[in-house]
Formats: sequence, structure tokens, C-alpha cells
Amino acid sequence: MEAGVWRTEGEEHGEGMIKIINVCGARPNFMKIAPLMRAYQAHERIQPLLVHTGQHYDENMSNLFFRELEIPEPDLNLEVGSGSHAVQTAEIMSRFEPVVLEHRPDWVVVVGDVNSTIACGLVATKLGVRLAHVEAGLRSFDRSMPEEINRLLTDAISDMLLVSEPSGLENLKREGIPDEKVHFVGNVMIDTLRANLAKAERSTILEDMNLEPGGFNVVTLHRPSNVDDAQTFGRIADALDAIQADLPTVFPMHPRTLHNLPRLGLAERFERMPQLHVIEPLGYLDFLKLMAKAAVVVTDSGGIQEETTVLGVCCLTVRENTERPVTLTSGTNTLVGTDPDLLVAAYRRCRATPVKQPPVPEKWDGKAADRIADCLIAASQ
Ligand code: UD1
Repeated sequence: MEAGVWRTEGEEHGEGMIKIINVCGARPNFMKIAPLMRAYQAHERIQPLLVHTGQHYDENMSNLFFRELEIPEPDLNLEVGSGSHAVQTAEIMSRFEPVVLEHRPDWVVVVGDVNSTIACGLVATKLGVRLAHVEAGLRSFDRSMPEEINRLLTDAISDMLLVSEPSGLENLKREGIPDEKVHFVGNVMIDTLRANLAKAERSTILEDMNLEPGGFNVVTLHRPSNVDDAQTFGRIADALDAIQADLPTVFPMHPRTLHNLPRLGLAERFERMPQLHVIEPLGYLDFLKLMAKAAVVVTDSGGIQEETTVLGVCCLTVRENTERPVTLTSGTNTLVGTDPDLLVAAYRRCRATPVKQPPVPEKWDGKAADRIADCLIAASQ
């Protein structure tokens, strides 16, 4: 672990300065932290420090995103790596606590719903440091999802709850969170998408993979509930077989899913699908280009449901629930579950009826991070 330094001049923070420790740890955090770090630059009073917990550490799960999204080098990397939930969460907490004690920030800002989010949130709150949660209020109402536990707990201890879609406002109200803590700011992940669309257009991934715009599908699957069990994953594989028989299908595979293929006896099943192309996880720009030009996206990710909504691409979510219901009501997303017949039927419907560009959800306009910086300043007066 390197010694942390505040990026701005001077050891002591001057009068009126607002010290903010920003936390990221896993891949979906990086596109949320990028616009925040940029938005802070417009405010001289904000002194940001960026802490990477090291929850994700592979080159193409982490570093590549920092370069492509021009996120400043983290001031500190806690290098926690992988482990069981308890071990990972505990490691992050014990390594983050001295950082907060040393720097005594005015705020700790956490994003999303990964183990780094709740671990650093708990540390901040217990040390009496105010906690802001970006992407607050989302609920799948499925407590078997580790992310749902992380969301519920982080929101319960946050001082500022920054909400991305209307359902978040309702959920927090129902849970008794006082209105004055809650701010509807929009979606920082979409800030990043809008800021990078032109750059992604220049990606050569389609040519490199010999794909035609609109002539291929994209698949991502990594949720334990889908890829840790042989029967469930086997049933999803049946559906993917039918889907790849229709169009070439690109599957940038998360390391967890890749490790599971041989363990669950599914490696050969995947090899027998001639048009299914399993590749390494992609960087942000190549993946954005791939999604934007896909016929259909099949996923169990949270963020991809939102990104396909803005891109106007049909998204089939291989889950029974979503914490992002605005993508169903004002988006291109359909929940299909893991029944192969339902997944294939939904796929055929997508192919038969091209998506009409739906209305984009409110405040998904590329300015969410600016609103968050304004909220932090206003609450620090
Ligand atoms: C985590 C998040 C999940 C998010 C996902 C995106 C939690 C509880 N889950 O799940 O919400 O959607 O990230 O990727 O925080 N591994 C590597 N290299 C890496 C990182 C992980 O090989 O850089 C492998 C390891 O075998 C590890 C496994 O992936 O054990 C799972 O990683 P982990 O961070 O525990 O959870 P994810 O499944 O990635």
C-alpha cells in the first residue's frame, strides 16, 4: 500500500475546503467514479482522494478502465483481491479504516452495490464521517443477491442518498429515510456512456471480429445464481445454443464464469456452439461499441440494462427481478428468467420487432455527476 496524498497543494486542508474520499473497487464502479472525479475539477473547494480497494485487479477488469475513462491514478490501492464475502468485506474494512483515520475527510463517497461499497460505508459511518451513496434506493427485493444486502445496508447508514431513477425515491421513502437526505440526481453510469459514445464509435472491434452492425448478439453472465450451479447454467446454455444458431453471438466472459465452465462440466458444451464466441472481458470502449451495434443483448448485469435502454437496443435480462425497473417501463429491457424456452421466445420477439427508441429516463442526461458535486457542496456549508 502506498502512502496517500491529497492531490491538491498543502498538507492541511484550508478554510472552506471539502475533503472527499471516493471509493471504487469492482469493474462496475469505475464508470460511476469517472464522471465524479471529473465533476470535482470544476470546484476549487473540493479536495478529492481516490481509493481503489483492489476488489478487482486483473488488467482488463480494472486498469484498462482507468486508462480508457481517464480516471486519475488512485491515490491508494488497498489490494484486497478476491475472497469469500466475509473475508473480502473484512479485509477492505481493516485496510480502509487507517486511511480514514489518517485523512479525516468531510465525506466518504461510495458508489453502486459491491462489497467495497458496504465495507467502506461501514468504516466511514463508525468513524463519524459523513457517507454519501451514489445509486441509492435501488431494490430487487431479492435478499439472496449479495448486492441487495449491500444496497439495503449502505442506504440505511448513509447521510446523503443520491438516487438514479424514480423507484429509488419510493423505496427510500417506504424505508423511512428522511426526505432531506435524498436527492434525485440521475445516473452517473449514463454520464460516462454519453461522454464516451463518439470515442467508442472509433473502436475497431466489429472489424476485428468480422461482425456486421446489427448482425450479432452480445451475452454477459456472471451472477452466482446463474453461473455457479450446473443445472441453471446448463439450462441457460441450451438457450444460448438456439440463439447462436440464429446469429453470431459474442460472450466476453467474466473470470468467475470462465472458472466455472470446466468445474460444472460445461466447457465442451460451449465449444460445440460454432457461432458462440467466448472472449476475454473487454474494455469499456470496445464493449460499448459492441452493445450499440448488437441485434440483441442477453445479460444478468445491472448496468447493461441501463446502457441498452439509452442505446435503444433490445435487452433480455436473465433474472427473475430487477432493481432498475425504469429500464422496463421507459426502456428496452425485458425480464426473462432462466427458463430456456422463455429466453428463446423473448429473443425471437426482439428479432421480429425492432425496438422503437423509448423515452430516456428522467435525468439520464449526462449531468448526474455535476448534480452530485453541487449536493456535496451545498451540504457542506
Ligand atoms: C462483483 C460484484 C458484482 C458485480 C461484479 C462485476 C460483489 C458482491 N459483487 O462480483 O455486484 O456485478 O463484481 O464484475 O461485490 N476475479 C478475477 N479477476 C478479477 C476479479 C475477480 O479473476 O479482477 C475472479 C476471482 O476468481 C473471484 C471471482 O472472480 O473469486 C469473483 O470476484 P468478486 O469480486 O468476488 O465478485 P464478482 O463476481 O466479480
